[in-house]
Amino acid sequence: MSDYKRFLVTAALPYANGPVHIGHLAGVYVPADIYTRYLRQNGKDVLFICGSDEHGVPITLKAKTEGITPQDVVDRYHTINKDAFSRFGIGFDIYHRTSAPIHHETASGFFRKLNESGEFVEKTSEQFFDEANQQFLADRYITGTCPRCGNEKAYGDQCEKCGTSLSPMELIDPKSMLSGNAPILKETKHWYLPLDKHEEWLKKWILEDHTEWRSNVYGQCKSWLDQGLQPRAVSRDLDWGVPVPVEGANGKVLYVWFDAPIGYISATKELTPDWEKYWKSEDSRMIHFIGKDNIVFHCIIFPVMLKAHGEYILPDNVPANEFLNLENDKISTSRNWAVWLHEYLDEFPGKQDVLRYVLTANAPEAKDNDFTWKDFQTRNNNELVAVLGNFVNRTLVLTQKYFDCKCPEISSLNDYDTATLSEITAIKSKVEQSLEVFRIREALNEAMSLARLGNKYLAESEPWKLFPTDPLRVASILHVSLQITANIAILMDPFLPFTMKQLRGYLNTSEMPWSAIGAVDLIKSGHQMKKPGLLFEKIEDAQVEFQVNKLLETKRANLAKAAGLAIAKPAISYDEFSAMDIRIATILEAEKVPKTQKLMKLKVDTGLDIRTVVSGIAEHFEPQALIGKQITLLANLEPRMIKGIESKGMILLAEDNQGRLIFVKPEEGIGNGAVVK
Ligand code: MF3
Ligand code: ZN
Repeated sequence: MSDYKRFLVTAALPYANGPVHIGHLAGVYVPADIYTRYLRQNGKDVLFICGSDEHGVPITLKAKTEGITPQDVVDRYHTINKDAFSRFGIGFDIYHRTSAPIHHETASGFFRKLNESGEFVEKTSEQFFDEANQQFLADRYITGTCPRCGNEKAYGDQCEKCGTSLSPMELIDPKSMLSGNAPILKETKHWYLPLDKHEEWLKKWILEDHTEWRSNVYGQCKSWLDQGLQPRAVSRDLDWGVPVPVEGANGKVLYVWFDAPIGYISATKELTPDWEKYWKSEDSRMIHFIGKDNIVFHCIIFPVMLKAHGEYILPDNVPANEFLNLENDKISTSRNWAVWLHEYLDEFPGKQDVLRYVLTANAPEAKDNDFTWKDFQTRNNNELVAVLGNFVNRTLVLTQKYFDCKCPEISSLNDYDTATLSEITAIKSKVEQSLEVFRIREALNEAMSLARLGNKYLAESEPWKLFPTDPLRVASILHVSLQITANIAILMDPFLPFTMKQLRGYLNTSEMPWSAIGAVDLIKSGHQMKKPGLLFEKIEDAQVEFQVNKLLETKRANLAKAAGLAIAKPAISYDEFSAMDIRIATILEAEKVPKTQKLMKLKVDTGLDIRTVVSGIAEHFEPQALIGKQITLLANLEPRMIKGIESKGMILLAEDNQGRLIFVKPEEGIGNGAVVK
């Protein structure tokens, strides 16, 4: 990192069509934040750029289904996501948005420059067109039957049932989602970026000069390059986005993946008048943090755009993470299978660092990983509480008890003390080595070893036993422990910024630079500290159960939704079931309750008595047709007054999702009062 004068760190711009979840945090934002905090602690000149990606078809679709404008959609999620990131301590210098005028100007200017220097090719092709609505249809706006699995609700870009990616032409019986009609094919002109013309330098730049890129990133690039690149359309027929800045291009906008990465540039422009030195000088180092589905855009397409433009630097590294699953299932916004950041913040107030820790310790760097609430609890209780929290707490509480929160004088250091303290520098350089190559998860584990070292030191020196006989030795031990604690406060700061701030409060110190790590006089003898509190607390089983139940509820809701049925109810005990007195009864009399639509007053024979029951079936049955029928009655439901009539019990009916009602009744006649069990 030494040769570079400044750093430009970008984190993928999340789409403003839904709230961000733990998958986003783990994949992109937490690692990017840790890395930039590390750079800043090293005194580097760094800009950390992000914002909302506010264009693209999913946003227009969402607006359509909700009956609002695309601008309403992006306004809503831009605010929610910006707020969630800031509450998680993701320290962007700017959280910009691609609907901003400065972005539109920047993206148009970029396109115009490429167009004028002949970097595009124009091609006409046939695309689906909705005649009723007089517009071309994005792939997502077309549905039809999947040629693979026969699913009748496949989309023009993908069948969600069998997972195949499709092109709209492959759909059997395609229909426009706007009018419901079959679309026609119509000619349309688009601008293409001829990626194939850039293959040669891309091959050298990635495959030869960037062999240090992560193997998942390098591998994906290699496979794209080996297969040969094709020209990519960079415009679309759509009315939401950056208009194509060319005469006669009405109704056409820049493809969202053309304008979004330019969002990094426009955000930097918005942030500082000095933006060009970050983007246009070779002594700037640009790093893109992304998820694996973004690799081709950041390693091939955007670099081609930058190169074709001619004034910009290329990224030096593109650390892309794999995906995080949730309780063994793919995270999905549409299936509501996620832990939403804004919900976590409400349910675990003040515990941002716990989630940051768990997502980093289990980061999907080399392969997809699974987040489970059980693992969340275990890592909190066994690592944060039992290792880090325990060491810091014992050190601070013993110092409070024996020395009134003042750092004790050191009398002499023995070999064990010196050996222990000398390990700090070794740990520091391991953390650095891992961070430099974006192995953030490994870096965290190395950093935690300083807390493990501290625990071992205290456990072996046992100051609590020595105090009555050797207070001078105890002073030295706690002096050493306090130096370890102060080093932890620096070393852990990129990972756990909230907790380390709290710790600096107890230590009564201010922020210290990364270069101070390894020093053994960070806390001077006689330094007055504050009364300590706990850094972490246990997560109880009940909290885990609550979260797991919430997810089970989601599963039930999804199953029911897919089948078009009511949601399954949670389990009940046998006792709860047997508390119900369900019997066969016969309807003796029936009449509509006057001045009501739905209510019918029935007289029924339960075998034990003759009673009145009011039931909401008047719209479905004629009174005459009911007399003499056997039905099933929940006989011990608390009596209720309905329209002045006392109703004793409830008649059981089955209702389907079309609202059809039928009686639940015995298959053959049976005596009144027969028990259903
Ligand atoms: N919105 C895209 C996604 O969530 C990422 C855009 S990154 C940018 O996958 F570079 F295009 F901005
Ligand atoms: Zn299919």
